[in-house]
Amino acid sequence: MSGGLVRACAVADVAPGSALAVEIDGTEVAIVRTGDRYYAIADECSHASVPLSEGDVDGCTIECYLHGSPFDLRTGQPLGLPATEPVPVFRCRVDGDDVLVDLAARPDPDDDQTTSAPAGTAPRSLSQE
Ligand code: FES
Repeated sequence: MSGGLVRACAVADVAPGSALAVEIDGTEVAIVRTGDRYYAIADECSHASVPLSEGDVDGCTIECYLHGSPFDLRTGQPLGLPATEPVPVFRCRVDGDDVLVDLAARPDPDDDQTTSAPAGTAPRSLSQE
Protein backbone atom coordinates (compact mmCIF):
# COMPACT_ATOMS: atom_id res chain seq x y z
CA MET A 1 0.00 0.00 0.00
CA SER A 2 1.38 3.39 -0.87
CA GLY A 3 1.53 5.97 1.89
CA GLY A 4 0.67 9.62 1.90
CA LEU A 5 -2.39 11.73 2.26
CA VAL A 6 -4.93 11.43 -0.54
CA ARG A 7 -8.20 13.27 -1.03
CA ALA A 8 -11.13 11.25 0.30
CA CYS A 9 -13.96 13.73 -0.25
CA ALA A 10 -14.94 17.36 0.16
CA VAL A 11 -15.69 18.69 3.63
CA ALA A 12 -19.19 19.57 2.41
CA ASP A 13 -19.85 15.97 1.33
CA VAL A 14 -20.33 14.87 4.93
CA ALA A 15 -23.05 16.47 7.05
CA PRO A 16 -22.37 16.92 10.77
CA GLY A 17 -23.26 13.76 12.67
CA SER A 18 -23.05 11.51 9.64
CA ALA A 19 -20.69 9.24 7.75
CA LEU A 20 -19.78 8.87 4.10
CA ALA A 21 -18.54 5.64 2.52
CA VAL A 22 -15.58 6.20 0.21
CA GLU A 23 -13.06 3.93 -1.46
CA ILE A 24 -9.37 4.76 -1.31
CA ASP A 25 -6.95 2.53 -3.18
CA GLY A 26 -9.45 -0.33 -2.99
CA THR A 27 -10.04 0.07 0.75
CA GLU A 28 -13.52 0.91 2.01
CA VAL A 29 -13.30 3.81 4.43
CA ALA A 30 -15.96 5.65 6.39
CA ILE A 31 -15.36 9.40 6.64
CA VAL A 32 -17.18 10.43 9.79
CA ARG A 33 -18.01 13.98 10.80
CA THR A 34 -18.92 14.94 14.30
CA GLY A 35 -19.45 18.66 14.64
CA ASP A 36 -16.69 20.17 12.51
CA ARG A 37 -14.25 17.33 13.12
CA TYR A 38 -13.55 14.50 10.69
CA TYR A 39 -12.34 10.94 11.25
CA ALA A 40 -11.40 8.07 8.97
CA ILE A 41 -12.23 4.53 10.08
CA ALA A 42 -12.31 1.26 8.13
CA ASP A 43 -15.83 0.80 6.81
CA GLU A 44 -16.33 -2.71 8.12
CA CYS A 45 -17.48 -3.76 11.56
CA SER A 46 -15.05 -6.15 13.27
CA HIS A 47 -17.96 -8.35 14.40
CA ALA A 48 -19.39 -9.07 10.96
CA SER A 49 -18.87 -7.66 7.51
CA VAL A 50 -21.31 -4.79 7.52
CA PRO A 51 -20.44 -1.16 6.76
CA LEU A 52 -20.02 1.08 9.78
CA SER A 53 -20.85 4.08 7.59
CA GLU A 54 -24.52 3.06 7.81
CA GLY A 55 -24.49 3.35 11.59
CA ASP A 56 -25.35 6.26 13.84
CA VAL A 57 -22.77 8.85 14.80
CA ASP A 58 -22.94 9.86 18.44
CA GLY A 59 -20.28 12.20 19.77
CA CYS A 60 -16.94 10.54 19.18
CA THR A 61 -18.40 7.14 18.31
CA ILE A 62 -20.11 5.38 15.45
CA GLU A 63 -22.55 2.61 16.30
CA CYS A 64 -22.82 -0.49 14.16
CA TYR A 65 -26.39 -0.68 12.88
CA LEU A 66 -26.58 -4.48 13.02
CA HIS A 67 -25.90 -5.36 16.67
CA GLY A 68 -25.16 -1.98 18.19
CA SER A 69 -21.47 -2.03 19.13
CA PRO A 70 -20.17 1.54 19.33
CA PHE A 71 -16.62 2.19 18.09
CA ASP A 72 -14.39 5.03 19.25
CA LEU A 73 -13.57 7.11 16.17
CA ARG A 74 -10.17 8.09 17.57
CA THR A 75 -8.91 4.60 18.35
CA GLY A 76 -11.22 2.16 16.55
CA GLN A 77 -11.80 0.32 19.83
CA PRO A 78 -15.24 -1.17 20.45
CA LEU A 79 -16.86 0.36 23.53
CA GLY A 80 -19.53 -2.30 23.89
CA LEU A 81 -20.43 -5.86 22.91
CA PRO A 82 -20.80 -7.89 20.82
CA ALA A 83 -17.73 -6.60 18.94
CA THR A 84 -14.47 -7.20 20.80
CA GLU A 85 -11.87 -6.41 18.14
CA PRO A 86 -10.87 -2.89 17.08
CA VAL A 87 -11.44 -1.49 13.61
CA PRO A 88 -8.50 0.23 11.88
CA VAL A 89 -8.47 4.00 12.04
CA PHE A 90 -6.43 6.19 9.74
CA ARG A 91 -4.71 9.54 9.68
CA CYS A 92 -7.21 12.17 8.59
CA ARG A 93 -6.84 15.90 8.16
CA VAL A 94 -8.69 18.76 6.60
CA ASP A 95 -6.96 20.89 3.99
CA GLY A 96 -9.12 23.74 2.79
CA ASP A 97 -12.24 22.19 1.29
CA ASP A 98 -10.82 18.67 1.19
CA VAL A 99 -10.70 15.78 3.64
CA LEU A 100 -7.41 13.91 3.27
CA VAL A 101 -6.68 10.39 4.48
CA ASP A 102 -3.47 8.38 4.76
CA LEU A 103 -4.24 4.67 4.88
CA ALA A 104 -0.66 3.89 5.88
CA ALA A 105 -0.69 6.07 9.00
CA ARG A 106 -2.45 6.17 12.35
CA PRO A 107 -4.27 9.33 13.43
CA ASP A 108 -1.85 12.15 14.23
CA PRO A 109 -2.90 14.37 17.15
CA ASP A 110 -1.07 17.27 15.53
CA ASP A 111 -3.28 17.16 12.44
CA ASP A 112 -6.05 19.67 12.01
CA GLN A 113 -9.12 17.49 11.59
CA THR A 114 -11.56 20.36 11.70
CA THR A 115 -13.04 22.69 9.16
CA SER A 116 -11.68 26.18 9.56
CA ALA A 117 -13.17 27.95 12.48
CA PRO A 118 -13.18 31.71 12.90
CA ALA A 119 -10.03 33.06 14.52
CA GLY A 120 -10.13 32.76 18.26
CA THR A 121 -12.67 29.96 18.27
CA ALA A 122 -11.58 26.94 20.26
CA PRO A 123 -12.16 23.53 18.72
CA ARG A 124 -15.26 21.79 19.96
CA SER A 125 -14.66 19.43 22.85
CA LEU A 126 -15.08 15.78 21.97
CA SER A 127 -14.91 14.30 25.42
CA GLN A 128 -16.94 11.20 26.11
CA GLU A 129 -20.19 11.53 27.98
S1 FES B 1 -22.03 -6.68 12.91
FE1 FES B 1 -21.40 -4.90 13.98
S2 FES B 1 -21.84 -5.35 16.06
FE2 FES B 1 -22.42 -7.17 14.99
